[in-house]
Amino acid sequence: MLTRDGSGRAVFGAISIAEALARSGVETPAYVYDLAGMADEARRLRAGFDGAAHLVAYAVKANTAGPVVRALAAAGCGAEVGSRAELEVALGCGIDPERILFSGVGKTVAEIDAAIAAGTRGIAALHVDAVEEVARLAARARALGRRARVCLRINPDIAADTHAHIATGHEEAKFGVALSELAAAYAEIDRHDELELVGLSGHIGSQLVRTDEYLAGAAKLFDAAREREAASGRRLALLDPGGGFGIDYGTGCAAAPADFARGAVHLAREHGFGDRMLVVEPGRALVGAHGVLCASVIAPKRSAGRRFLVVDAGMNDLLRPALYGARHRVEPLDRAVDAASPAWTVVGPVCESSDDFGAHVLCEPLPDRVIVRDAGAYGYTMASHYNGRGLPAEVFVHADGSVTASVAADARSWIQSRLAT
Ligand SMILES: Cc1ncc(COP(=O)(O)O)c(C=O)c1O
Repeated sequence: MLTRDGSGRAVFGAISIAEALARSGVETPAYVYDLAGMADEARRLRAGFDGAAHLVAYAVKANTAGPVVRALAAAGCGAEVGSRAELEVALGCGIDPERILFSGVGKTVAEIDAAIAAGTRGIAALHVDAVEEVARLAARARALGRRARVCLRINPDIAADTHAHIATGHEEAKFGVALSELAAAYAEIDRHDELELVGLSGHIGSQLVRTDEYLAGAAKLFDAAREREAASGRRLALLDPGGGFGIDYGTGCAAAPADFARGAVHLAREHGFGDRMLVVEPGRALVGAHGVLCASVIAPKRSAGRRFLVVDAGMNDLLRPALYGARHRVEPLDRAVDAASPAWTVVGPVCESSDDFGAHVLCEPLPDRVIVRDAGAYGYTMASHYNGRGLPAEVFVHADGSVTASVAADARSWIQSRLAT
């Protein structure tokens, strides 16, 4: 968790973020992550299961960096993946295929094959997202000579109170199978000997700051599971209401991740499913608060009475503000915020008006460097080369205080790739 030391410097664990940057030798823009903070987050969430059998399948899409995935695996997490590349990262980080789930509305043949071929009997489950997908999965299992385990992803028709772009469980969303079509989906799965239906899954959306909608979705999932078991006489081993647990971006978050787990366990027990494997798929809640994007101030700019602070990180580095109006707190790196100082609109150098991190009170004199807070989830993973910009560096503060870094594709390699074609 980000704190400030006596001099006002932003700190992760035992070292200041400025020191982590200095030790790593990377330049801004750079993400800095607190791996111990992420692992603690996973442990706190796991404690919420109150002894019930569970699997925290970390949604790798939130942050795919090897040190992050390894730290969460060491804290007892499996993985939820949405592409072959994410599957390979999870496997490469040592996560047992038996603890990996694969979701996605459009899985390619290569992705299906990689999931079915993993380990000695494939991954724990592929989430079937459509009736039409069943025959494709069965055909690939047959071709590979394996029986594939699947969960059926239900769409519980719950309009979550979150940004429209990250609500996924309402009836117009492209995700999952409508409750009215579950019978057809079961029949299609049961028709194929190559497939074994091992559970039901759902995911109603992201950045849920209360538990009620999540638990309403979970209740519909448990009801559907009860009906399926009664009709088929077969037991479902996995019940997975998804991820979506919100974090506090500065405006509050009433529910902690463990509250979602506690509520789901209670509900599962009420439905007579206390002995099943309860799966959750959190991404943001495990990593979001434990990463910052560091940027250097390029220059202040005053125009028509407005104050802009131009920094060297932009929407290509952190897309969330431009993509869905997300607000991340921007603060000085080395000094505490001075509430009496004027607000500046912090903007990046990218040629889009949406390259704007919003107005923030910083300090006076203006800082040389700033941090964009709560950027550990859906930050680097959504970064792009727009405007020919390099991808930001990543710096990892390990639990023992050591610091490592990775610099992916800088602007030079981007230029070469453009000229080579
Ligand atoms: C199927 C699925 N599971 C889990 C997640 C993780 O969501 P969050 O990061 O909000 O926990 C997502 C996010 O898009 C998802 O699509």
